[in-house]
Amino acid sequence: MPEAVSETSHVRSPKELTEEDKILVRETWKEAAKPEVQAGQKLFQKIFQISPDAMSYFSNPDMESDEFKAHITRVMSTLDTAIQNLDDLAELAPTLERLGTIHATMGIKKEQLAVVKEALLSTLAQELKDAFTEKCRNAWALTFDILAEAMAAGMVSS
Ligand code: HEM
Repeated sequence: MPEAVSETSHVRSPKELTEEDKILVRETWKEAAKPEVQAGQKLFQKIFQISPDAMSYFSNPDMESDEFKAHITRVMSTLDTAIQNLDDLAELAPTLERLGTIHATMGIKKEQLAVVKEALLSTLAQELKDAFTEKCRNAWALTFDILAEAMAAGMVSS
């Protein structure tokens, strides 16, 4: 039975992943995210290259330190959970919002999420080479935008 909904509600939102997008992201994540710690180190090397300031948020920004590797593992496992739940990313929104709030409490700004996005796309391009097609890049960009939007919603500026 049709519900009384706004006229735009059945239009595909530009923030919606297609089935093809989901397949591309899942398949390429399997390739690019292993071994997990090394893949995360490459991502953070890129983040620090783009934004050396990002280092200042960590008590120990040494890539090889246990503390830093622990954050890498947290980032990778958050991404992994998201990629396993691409069919239902909205369910993760409250968790991602809380994560945004935790980061904002440490002084991390929404702009850092744009740096993470740039670094992620660049790391994926480097790792996946020819497999990182235009379609694949767009699918990843959209996936990250959805995650970042949820995190940003929790980053209330003080
Ligand atoms: C999408 C990207 C990111 C994800 C998924 C992520 C994930 C996480 C998670 C799950 C935690 C633990 C939160 C808790 O205490 O429950 C955390 C903590 C933290 N994050 Fe992130 N993070 C991201 C990006 C960043 C960036 C770009 C920075 C720095 C500029 C950063 C700095 C920190 C710091 C300093 C902590 C607390 C100490 C630590 O756990 O090492 N994070 N992050």
